[in-house]
Amino acid sequence: MSSLRELEEIESQARSALEAAEDEAQLDAWWQTFLGRKGRLTQVLRGLASLPLEERRLLGSRANRLKEELQAAYQERRQRLQEESLARALAASWVDVSLPGRPLPVGRLHPITQTLRDVLDCFRSLGFQVVEGPEVEWDYYNFEALLIPKDHPARDLWATLWIEYRRNGEMPMLLRTHTSPNQIRYMEAHSPPIRIVSPGKCYRYEATDPTHEWMLTQVEVLAVDEGLGMADLKGTLAEFARRIFGPQRRVRFRCEYYPFVEPGMDVLIDCFQCGGVGCRICGHTGWLEILGSGMVHPQILANVGYDPERYTGFAAGLGIERIAMIRYGIDDIRLFYQNDLRFLEQF
Ligand code: FA5
Repeated sequence: MSSLRELEEIESQARSALEAAEDEAQLDAWWQTFLGRKGRLTQVLRGLASLPLEERRLLGSRANRLKEELQAAYQERRQRLQEESLARALAASWVDVSLPGRPLPVGRLHPITQTLRDVLDCFRSLGFQVVEGPEVEWDYYNFEALLIPKDHPARDLWATLWIEYRRNGEMPMLLRTHTSPNQIRYMEAHSPPIRIVSPGKCYRYEATDPTHEWMLTQVEVLAVDEGLGMADLKGTLAEFARRIFGPQRRVRFRCEYYPFVEPGMDVLIDCFQCGGVGCRICGHTGWLEILGSGMVHPQILANVGYDPERYTGFAAGLGIERIAMIRYGIDDIRLFYQNDLRFLEQF
């Protein structure tokens, strides 16, 4: 038998249970308990039909009002819970856009790449064009075409890493020992005037020490034109040294023999470590050799089909690691390729 007291009891229990509901599942259970098909208030409303008219009217209007009130309270509670859970989610993923960003580990150019690019820029600004050639080279281009035949003692200068490929019992392929083969390759395919620089890795089968690596980077310089002479060679290389090392560095030209130039000379820079007095790095000479150079041998010009009576040329092979050592004051060439971040991060 329903009564006003029962309705009051339902109301008070429903309201406190609603307040206590903390999530969707509890809200659903609450709905089932009070307003669902078998809910307590629904039962009351169903039982109204059996009541006498007066009582039905009184209890009916009160029960229907309560039903509306509880439905509204339910909606309100549901909305509040949703807002609270949204606020919690936002608080958990909150981003303070005014905080300074975390630095990302950004890579940088290797000191050899930086130096190589500066050297190429320097020659580009002097009117030279950059061309590249293969690292795996034929004996022909690396030696023969440069007037270094098989039995020539000059081959001892370039201890060679050969490729295991045999033709007529001989191994004609190698890892290039210098970038000079690119002189021949370019001249074979082009006519004068020529002004090129050719960068790349070279390989030598030799023991390492503070100024020697088995892998090195060279830049070949080649100019062929009418009327080029030693003054052009010296002027170009002196200007290069001034731009890369600054005017305070001393430059020395020293006679040297290379079979493919006549005459030949090396360029040396005063040692950055001892200032010319002599130390371990410069082999106690006070000077560091950075490049070999000379006037292109007339026989080479003739071999590629140029008229050596009309054209002359100069060439040079620059050692980029040595140049980087002098620029940055690095006392051991082997540091460049040890991949030690403590070293590399300084550039
Ligand atoms: C040559 O390689 C000649 N092709 C250079 C040349 C070109 C001469 C054109 C005349 C005309 P050399 O072996 O001296 O020459 O090497 C040239 C430069 O490469 C050296 O001055 C030095 O700076 C660098 N170099 C040579 N060997 C090594 C090495 N093992 N480690 C680091 N740098 C080296």
